[in-house]
Amino acid sequence: MRSFLKTKTAIALALVVTAGAAQAEDVEVLHWWTSGGEAAALNVLKGDLEGQGIGWTDMPVAGGGGEQAMTVLRARVTAGNAPTAVQGLGFDILDWANQGSLANLNDVAAKEGWDDVVPAALQAFAKVDGEWVSAPVNVHSTNWVWANKSVLDANGISVPTTWEEFTAALDTLSAAGVTPIAHGGQAWQDTTVFDAVAMSVLGADGYRAAFIDLDEGVLGSDDMVEAFERMAVIRANVDDNFSGRDWNLATAMVINGEAGFQMMGDWAKGEFLNAGQVPGEDFLCFRFPGTQDQVTFNADQFMMFDQGGAVSAEQAALASAILSPSFQSAFNVVKGSVPARTDVSDEAFDACGKQGMADLAAAASSGNLLGSVAHGHANPASVKNAIYDVVTAHFNGEYDSATAAAELVDAVSIAK
Ligand code: BGC
Repeated sequence: MRSFLKTKTAIALALVVTAGAAQAEDVEVLHWWTSGGEAAALNVLKGDLEGQGIGWTDMPVAGGGGEQAMTVLRARVTAGNAPTAVQGLGFDILDWANQGSLANLNDVAAKEGWDDVVPAALQAFAKVDGEWVSAPVNVHSTNWVWANKSVLDANGISVPTTWEEFTAALDTLSAAGVTPIAHGGQAWQDTTVFDAVAMSVLGADGYRAAFIDLDEGVLGSDDMVEAFERMAVIRANVDDNFSGRDWNLATAMVINGEAGFQMMGDWAKGEFLNAGQVPGEDFLCFRFPGTQDQVTFNADQFMMFDQGGAVSAEQAALASAILSPSFQSAFNVVKGSVPARTDVSDEAFDACGKQGMADLAAAASSGNLLGSVAHGHANPASVKNAIYDVVTAHFNGEYDSATAAAELVDAVSIAK
């Protein structure tokens, strides 16, 4: 019996070790793309590499926004066993680069002219001291609203363009017995909604002052109190089971007609497409009212972890595949994001994708393109987490709106 148990343990350990270690010619990719739409997009990347004869060891870590993935990553790096390539966001990428953990991608970047085609807003999170440290996959933005078209039509609701029209639509849905807003109560989702709501009240300059410059006067301002007041209105329009719900299950509520709207980044579009829905026919996408000419963005990138020496041939091939114009189009059409290169045609994109590309270009030239707080493009993790805590505590009724603005000032000043 004992030796049987020992053998069983040895086999189990061997399996764990084999599963954790990539073959020499494989890339091991750590990511958090585990929903249906995300997995469909990931398959585009896997297929591309397989076509080049490069094997793929998958390391998915569930949890939207990537917090859990970053925890697993830290454990792997601490154990001296960093994956080959890791999905990363904004300031997290800069942190890993500054710790000396990332391979230098300058050779691939120079050969393929990344400097000329990747927009400056992304280069700020992909280059450190003139060195390319990650390969940008896409640009997402968080200030979108997704709606079920039949639910809106049945209730005589047209796309709201102001906060007042939006709240009127919420009241109409509520009176009709439809959940007005599908939401998942997780800190990163609460803060994703807050990105858009804060931008709508503060405007681009106020958002920049509060969340990028961390100006205490703006963080604690009357406008910030108003932003929290609007969050309270949103809280009053979600169903009773919102707490802890995954974002894609909230999207499913809109897809199924259980709810009217979801405020979520454009990865939500991947879920609608994966369910066979068509923009303009089954679902609608529009910017959160009051942010029509603004974009709060986040960009997924793949960091290539230094495996002891120069970037490996497989890492270089992965980076090169990611930046190729054909991949940028094929992947982002499925993912819901828009290309990380400025020279990719919008031809293959649906109406939401075309709008996303046009909005991004317009916001970049007007100065209204600002990093998402929720997705690590406004602040390093310590400040981001401090903001998460306040936004979530307020959403769950622990603070009134004036207290929340005051707490924001304190929490940010301690964290920064
Ligand atoms: C990522 C997206 C992802 C979303 C939900 C965001 O932080 O940028 O690629 O789809 O989280 O998991």
